[in-house]
Amino acid sequence: MSEARVIVVGNEKGGAGKSTIAIHMATALMHAGARVAVVDLDLRQQSLNRFFDNRRKWLESSGAVLPTPLTPSGEAGEILVRAAAEDQAVRFEDVMGQALGIADFILVDTPGADTALSRKAHQSADVIITPLNDSFVDFDMLGQVDPVTLELKKPSLYSESVWEARKVRAAVTRRMTDWLVLRNRLATTEARNRKRLEERIAALSRRVGFRIGPGLRDRVIYRELFPFGLTIADLSPGVRPVPVSLSHVAARQELRALMTAVGLSEDTGEEIVATDGDSDVEELDKAS
Ligand SMILES: Nc1ncnc2c1ncn2[C@@H]1O[C@H](COP(=O)(O)OP(=O)(O)OP(=O)(O)O)[C@@H](O)[C@H]1O
Ligand SMILES: [Mg+2]
Repeated sequence: MSEARVIVVGNEKGGAGKSTIAIHMATALMHAGARVAVVDLDLRQQSLNRFFDNRRKWLESSGAVLPTPLTPSGEAGEILVRAAAEDQAVRFEDVMGQALGIADFILVDTPGADTALSRKAHQSADVIITPLNDSFVDFDMLGQVDPVTLELKKPSLYSESVWEARKVRAAVTRRMTDWLVLRNRLATTEARNRKRLEERIAALSRRVGFRIGPGLRDRVIYRELFPFGLTIADLSPGVRPVPVSLSHVAARQELRALMTAVGLSEDTGEEIVATDGDSDVEELDKAS
């Protein structure tokens, strides 16, 4: 029996898009036929578990049939949330140990903070995915830039945490953790800021050794299906709680590009056709 591949979505900066990426990758993997276990280490927000709770309720009431994760929704999270602080590390290992033997992938969402559980998760990752808002405020968690020249000075907090986690894992497994950084919530209006950031990210990637993934645009579709427990990967002629627009089709392509960059399946769900002329990106383009 082969062991599951562990994908950890992490960034100590809050609001970078970790939970959004985690739910999109989990649903895309399930549609590609993979057995997926999900572990939500954001014990306070529980966005990932909330998403799969919503999904279960929506499926019950709509009668639709869609893939669900191996761990019954929320179960792994509840075990961790209910555990006393000193038992959490052991409970986490139990949850991971169980999932490793039965899943193809374990998707772990982490909080926007440095916690003991998040460190452990990073140490067990085959792949770390780090979404990053297109902002120097967010980049600051990864690398420090010179305030005058804006040149990259040194890696900062989160890069150091990932470095440590990779060292710990390499000592045990002799394998290098793949680290992919991708920009999220890209807007069309910020060409100059984006270019500057792109250069700093490229410099940092050479220095600390991560790959740069394809970015995701800022699109309403990445957040509007959350209350149903659905993502763009779930949409089909039979599952269509909102009108399908060109933006949905474009978002599918972005998700597919992300899956390819991580080395995962490109199958991101049933083909969808836009029936609604609306596109949030076009609106952004017009505004710029
Ligand atoms: N590409 C995107 N387009 C539009 N909205 C997005 C996108 N990515 C994330 N969002 C929205 O941005 C907000 C933050 O995203 P999310 O909760 O996924 O971040 P997070 O890193 O998990 O945050 P936290 O650190 O608080 O757990 C949410 O409102 C989410 O719906
Ligand atoms: Mg989150």
